[in-house]
Amino acid sequence: MADPALPETENAARERLAELREEIDGHNHRYYVLDSPLISDAEYDALMRELLAIEERWPHLVTPDSPSQRVGAPPASAFGEVHHAVPMLSLDNAFDEQDLLDFDRRVRERLGHQGGVRYVGEPKLDGLSLTIRYQDGVLVQAGTRGDGRTGEDITANVRTVRSVPLRLRGQGVPETLEVRGEMVIRKRDFEALNAQRLAAGLKTFANPRNAAAGSLRQLDSRETARRPLTFFTFGVGVCSESLGDSHHAILQRLTAWGFRVNDQIRVLDGMDACLDYYRDLLDRRDSLDYEIDGVVFKVDELQARERLGFTARAPRWAIAYKLPAREATTRVRDIIPSVGRTGAITPVADLEPVEVGGVTVSRATLHNMDELRRKDVRVGDTVMVRRAGDVIPEITGVITERRPPDATPWDMPKHCPVCGSEVLRLDEEADHRCQGGLVCSAQRVGAILHFASRRAMDIDGLGEKIVEQLVDRELVRTPADLFRLEHATVAGLERMGDRSADNLLAALSRAKATSLPRFLYALGIRHVGEVTAQRLAEHFGDLEPIMAASEEELVQVPDVGPVVAQAIAHFFAEPHNRDVIRQLLAAGVRWPVVHRSPRTQPLAGKTFVLTGTLAGMSRDQARNRIQALGGKVTGSVSRKTDYLVAGESPGSKLDKARELGVTVLDEAGMRALLGAED
Ligand code: IVH
Repeated sequence: MADPALPETENAARERLAELREEIDGHNHRYYVLDSPLISDAEYDALMRELLAIEERWPHLVTPDSPSQRVGAPPASAFGEVHHAVPMLSLDNAFDEQDLLDFDRRVRERLGHQGGVRYVGEPKLDGLSLTIRYQDGVLVQAGTRGDGRTGEDITANVRTVRSVPLRLRGQGVPETLEVRGEMVIRKRDFEALNAQRLAAGLKTFANPRNAAAGSLRQLDSRETARRPLTFFTFGVGVCSESLGDSHHAILQRLTAWGFRVNDQIRVLDGMDACLDYYRDLLDRRDSLDYEIDGVVFKVDELQARERLGFTARAPRWAIAYKLPAREATTRVRDIIPSVGRTGAITPVADLEPVEVGGVTVSRATLHNMDELRRKDVRVGDTVMVRRAGDVIPEITGVITERRPPDATPWDMPKHCPVCGSEVLRLDEEADHRCQGGLVCSAQRVGAILHFASRRAMDIDGLGEKIVEQLVDRELVRTPADLFRLEHATVAGLERMGDRSADNLLAALSRAKATSLPRFLYALGIRHVGEVTAQRLAEHFGDLEPIMAASEEELVQVPDVGPVVAQAIAHFFAEPHNRDVIRQLLAAGVRWPVVHRSPRTQPLAGKTFVLTGTLAGMSRDQARNRIQALGGKVTGSVSRKTDYLVAGESPGSKLDKARELGVTVLDEAGMRALLGAED
């Protein structure tokens, strides 16, 4: 989209700016308040670019309510103060139905009301309370609640929030208007923000509320501008005129002036309707896009409110009925490594039991070591625990002020707590894993099912139900035990009889005659699928040389990179695993010798170095191809190098090869060598 030309005169610029501001404000309102944009991001950006270009050319035409002012201002050294002429009060709480009924009874008594009172029900948003003042429809000041009478002046920050109008829309705007509401970060924005921070190596926020608070407390409002804040309006403070007779009428006017008013707010006649409203919101809590910590009931009629008045800290005409908290603090009693069915070891916090969201929680996952280090959770720490929906409870942060002086960082054990095998974290993986795949009881059912599966040892009739019984009754601890099973034992299992026991034993006997690739695959070595198993068998010819191979030797196998080589070497280094393999062979598991036909190894003994960019294939492909033919690929040129393959822009390796008299191949030369000798 080409940018339009600048206006020719200052007057034309002034006019165009007014048009653009109105248009951009309108789109902001649709996008950030109504959630229903009319134009694409690109079109919006084009309007913004035009506005910025004109304002740059005529800077004195910039006004405080221009959309350009939402990008933030240079940092302040401290926040000023804001005095609240109408105090920002707190709310009394109801913790159960009885508290709420008592509140309603007091309201009716004071009002001398016979029938039900009309209330407005609102979600109580879990964010930061704010007041924003408009003078003649233009935003002039925004402040936090502070102690209720004096708060901090965060005008520059609030201006950057797109759901806060900089100028009120529509008709009948009062001379002075203070709106009150809650600044939040919506759940999906929170997830995105944390993901972004994680990727950038920054500390993540424990919950949306902390994220919102942190974002508003920036001295540099340009940083606030980058945070996905949303403002929900729920009332007014000072106002130069009456806005109506009822709360819900005021909310309608606020909506018309461009504020975001929560769409779950309802007018409710009497307590039954209020209780229904509460139960319904409690049910739907997880599907709302923002965190709520309660439901607020407010007397709707303003005259009635006046008669009810205030106590020292809260209005008598409103009450907050709390929802069960999603978050609680408790102490970490221990951190326990827990071994999963695939061998992954997860650090799990053992907690002093605490009630969160209506459920008692005594364990919380710490996912993996990176996560644990990032949060720096230690035994003895006081932590925040969070439970949202059906998700597993999670530790969201440590209260470091309450850390005991002797708390030491936790580390992953070197040996599996279940079977004692080595624990290893392979390069590029997040999880630590137990290497005793064949012996570890935590992995037993999974390992045996894999061993018996069709493409592995193909033991017909050994399904999950049977394996579970065999493992539970400790009849089978390792795959080798399968071949020691006796007829009577098998026939005694649930759902087994003589016939099926015969069949299973016959299948086991048949399975002993297998192939080396199947056997390798059946061992369940991490990263070793059927193809890699095949390549290993072809390259080494038999099991012993594979078991003895170093990582350097293993990477010479096509398809085997450093991570896979590491996994294979560690698997065979584990004495428990070697023992099981010995037993399997002793039980009669066998395979025909794999012929390492010389025809497939024409490049055996030849060493290659690849440099530069190849046009027809990637370097990895070339490496695989050379290795498949028995050649070796190394990283640097030496006297031992037989061929240097030089692609585009080869660099210093080419000079070195020439110096040492190494044969240099171009891409065509390499192809000829690979193709001709195939
Ligand atoms: S009305 C005088 N309505 O809850 C009445 N408050 O404990 C003032 N809050 O500081 C509050 N959602 O930050 C009201 N729909 C809502 C609310 C709400 C959240 C917060 C607000 C206030 C605190 C009171």
